[in-house]
Amino acid sequence: MGYKETLLSPIKVGTRESKNRFFIQAMECCDADKEGNPSELTLERYTNLFRGKAGIITLEAISITHESRSRDNQLMIMPENAEALKRFIKKLKEVNPDALIVFQLTHSGELSNPNFSRRVTVNPLYGYGGDLLTEEEVDKIMDEYTLSAQIAHEVGADGVDLKLCHGYLGSQIIRPYNSRDWKYGGSWENRSRFAFDLYERISRAVNDKNFLIGSKLSMWEGFPGGFGTDAEDSALIDLKEPLSLVKGLEERGAQYFVETLGSPSITVSLVQAERQHPYIAYLHQTFQKALKDAVKPETVIVGSNYSVYGRGNRGLQACDPAENTMLKVGARNIERGITDMIALGRQSFADPLLPLKLEEGKEQDIHFCTICDNCLELLIRQKPIGCCTFNKYYTDTLVNTRKEMGKLNQNHT
Ligand SMILES: Cc1cc2nc3c(=O)[nH]c(=O)nc-3n(C[C@H](O)[C@H](O)[C@H](O)COP(=O)(O)O)c2cc1C
Ligand code: SF4
Repeated sequence: MGYKETLLSPIKVGTRESKNRFFIQAMECCDADKEGNPSELTLERYTNLFRGKAGIITLEAISITHESRSRDNQLMIMPENAEALKRFIKKLKEVNPDALIVFQLTHSGELSNPNFSRRVTVNPLYGYGGDLLTEEEVDKIMDEYTLSAQIAHEVGADGVDLKLCHGYLGSQIIRPYNSRDWKYGGSWENRSRFAFDLYERISRAVNDKNFLIGSKLSMWEGFPGGFGTDAEDSALIDLKEPLSLVKGLEERGAQYFVETLGSPSITVSLVQAERQHPYIAYLHQTFQKALKDAVKPETVIVGSNYSVYGRGNRGLQACDPAENTMLKVGARNIERGITDMIALGRQSFADPLLPLKLEEGKEQDIHFCTICDNCLELLIRQKPIGCCTFNKYYTDTLVNTRKEMGKLNQNHT
């Protein structure tokens, strides 16, 4: 099979079907309205993605409560958001009824922004901190997650991604650094309880075999005590716990996992390979394969960090650029059993129509992401986000932001 056929081939996910192997990453864009509902800008972004025909589209990190937000203008999913979300999904499904949409449910925990949220922690990290969470508070957060998943189901989402990555509460609880001896910390049995119970509770509450449940996982957070390390004070990679987690989640109904690494507020270049160090993308493939080898054949693995390959001329040495393109590397990895789908993050900003263009034989018209990371700058500065290279609205937003705030002097969220 050629790369085009591989990438455009369908795949079963649970009882559902993804029409092709393109998975749109959760990409938060700070453009919700004051109530946390999708705005016109949000609708425009997702309408373009639905027109673009990726098989599965993730609705960016949506906060399960008002006080658990890391960004101002973040989407929220509480009973008062249900009507707006229902209208939003209805409009998107009218654009393309075939694309599946999963909501990435999140609580920011220690990354909740104290300017407009309540910063809470399971065990204070150096430089972060917040109110120490009690067992009762975590139980309540699980009630809120369950309610949010029920709302997602009710408003027409096809599933949820229970976020266990990038340093938000889901990762804070499972990492070895959560060494405090309590119901949700200390031993692996205690640290995994939150994720395992949450899957069981949500599956019971939603009670719909067609509703997808999965998680994006930081397989290695890349700092001492982060998830995927071997001890609370060690940075050594140890996949015992990540693999035990995915097996336990599979037993509790997980149908897909999205591979990622790092935490953008601490180890941002692991999350998304940068122009200066594009080869970090190679590292991700090993973790995708580790996941693929650990799960049942029917569980779908989605690999991240494919945006950097672009047209294949990305400063990646010792390989033929013509063979090292995003589309060819992605298809090869699917054919070799490294991943089942490829996730597009920044690339989905640069060209939301990529799958459609490929299908229609217009590959030469694809705008490939240049990895300039200007969209990341907008995220760090909490401005509405999109591609500053190929979309004039966001080029102007960037120019105005720099005029207003000056030069950016940090490289993490
Ligand atoms: C502006 C921006 C927003 C992001 N928002 C999210 C998010 O809401 N949830 C998430 O899991 N990852 C988020 N990420 C990380 C991406 O989903 C993805 O994992 C990362 O960019 C690597 O993929 P890429 O190389 O295709 O861009 C974000 C990244 C950027 C640049
Ligand atoms: S702003 Fe730069 S990094 Fe972001 S999507 Fe556009 S080209 Fe890619």
